[in-house]
Formats: sequence, C-alpha cells, structure tokens
Amino acid sequence: MHAAKFHHLRMLGNQGLTYSRVAIALHWLIALLIILNFIAVWVAEDLPRPERIELMANHKAIGITVLILSILRILWRVTHRAPPFDRSLAIWEVALARIVHALFYFLIIAIPLTGWGMVSTGGDAVSVFGLFSVPALPVGSDKATGGIFHEIHEVFGTIMLVLIGLHLLGALKHQFVDHDATMARMVPFLRARR
Ligand code: HEM
Ligand code: HEM
Repeated sequence: MHAAKFHHLRMLGNQGLTYSRVAIALHWLIALLIILNFIAVWVAEDLPRPERIELMANHKAIGITVLILSILRILWRVTHRAPPFDRSLAIWEVALARIVHALFYFLIIAIPLTGWGMVSTGGDAVSVFGLFSVPALPVGSDKATGGIFHEIHEVFGTIMLVLIGLHLLGALKHQFVDHDATMARMVPFLRARR
C-alpha cells in the first residue's frame, strides 16, 4: 500500500473515523454465523434424516446466538456514535447504505425470531449447544402458525441473501473502484496498528 494512503488510514483509526472494536467484532462474528447458517440449510437438504436433524440443531443454536448478539449489537449501536461516511460518497450511496443497514438490523432480529417461532409450535425448548436452552415461545401449537413462521423465515432469508450480495458488492466497489476509506472503517487490518 502507498505510504501516504497507509498514513491516511492510520489517521482514521486515531480520529474515531472507524467503527469501535466492539462494533467490528460483533459485525464480523454475526456475519460469519449468518453465512454458516445459510450453508447449514443448503448442506442439510441432502443429508439423511438423523444427520439432518443434528445439523439443524446447530442451525437453531447458531440462530439463537445471532439473536442474542444482535440485541447486544443494537444496544451498542444506539449508545455509540458510528463513524461518518467517507466524504466522497454521493447522496444516493449514503441513502442506499442506510436503507440496507436498517434492513439488516431488522432481519438479524426477525429471522432468528421467526425460526424460533416456527419450532415453538412443536412445544420444544431450543438447546444452544447444550450450554443453555430457550423455552418455546407462546405461539400455540397450531401447525398452520408454524407454517406461517416458516414462510416468513424463508422469505426474509432470501431477502437477506440479496442484501448481503449488494452489501458485499458495495464494499468491494469502494475498496477497489473508488479507493475510498469505506472498507477500512470495518476491516481492522486496513487500519494501521500502533
Ligand atoms: C442467523 C439466523 C438464521 C438464518 C440466516 C436462517 C436461515 C434459514 C434458511 C435460509 C432456511 C431455509 C428456508 C427454507 O427454504 O425452508 C432456514 C430453515 C430453517 N430454520 Fe433458520 N435461520 C436462522 C435462524 C433460525 C433459528 C433461530 C431457528 C430456530 C430456533 C431456525 C430454524 C429453522 C428451521 C427448523 C428450518 C427448517 C425448516 C424446514 O425446512 O423444515 N432458524 N433457516
Ligand atoms: C453477512 C451478513 C452481514 C451483515 C448482517 C452486515 C451488516 C452490516 C451493518 C448493519 C453495517 C452498518 C453498521 C452501522 O453503521 O451500524 C455494516 C457495515 C459494513 N459492512 Fe457489513 N454485514 C454483513 C456482511 C459483510 C461482508 C461480507 C462484508 C465484506 C466486505 C461487509 C462489509 C462491511 C463494511 C465495509 C461496512 C462499513 C461500511 C459502511 O458503513 O457501509 N459486511 N454491515
């Protein structure tokens, strides 16, 4: 990396122009767990029943973990200032980013909740890796209710995948086409360590 640019990024970190360590850690941990959960359902499809049930138990445990981390993340977000957008961004880019971010915050809560709602109609608690479990939500035991939760879970999942694609393309565009400081706000190794 060019020395001047490197210096510029170091300045970002020192001036509070990147996300905080906690925000960065939560962003990447939640992103990783969500991607694992998509992979889990794709892999589970082709497995024989016992293995599928075991893998889906992990899907549920990961999902509840995402729900807990997302609540913490939102609490952190509303109590800590986010760094400003790079000044070179067009108004439409800022608007699009804000919309996608808001939808992400909605979905990282709504997707786990609808999954939890779906399995709750069966009346079972959800074990989180055997460490603890969450009880069934009080949604009744009607199969149709479970079906509706399943439907919403699936549609929200599809929307999430599209948004992840958009978000990823946006990040790559800023880094490799615009060469601005957008990605350095969320990727620690782009920031110089002291
Ligand atoms: C990070 C959060 C989560 C993501 C991204 C996610 C995503 C998905 C996706 C994409 C599917 C496939 C939908 C379909 O075509 O049927 C699925 C299925 C499922 N999810 Fe989740 N999920 C999450 C959390 C949860 C949680 C917390 C639970 C339950 C506690 C759960 C329970 C299920 C179940 C039981 C299915 C299978 C439904 C079936 O086909 O029988 N999910 N999930
Ligand atoms: C997979 C699930 C992901 C979710 C739910 C997610 C969610 C978010 C959210 C909500 C923000 C805004 C933070 C705030 O201001 O409050 C954000 C920022 C950011 N994310 Fe992600 N993200 C995901 C994956 C990724 C991936 C794969 C990349 C790869 C490049 C990435 C790169 C970034 C960057 C560079 C920012 C900061 C720049 C900006 O303000 O837009 N994210 N992400």
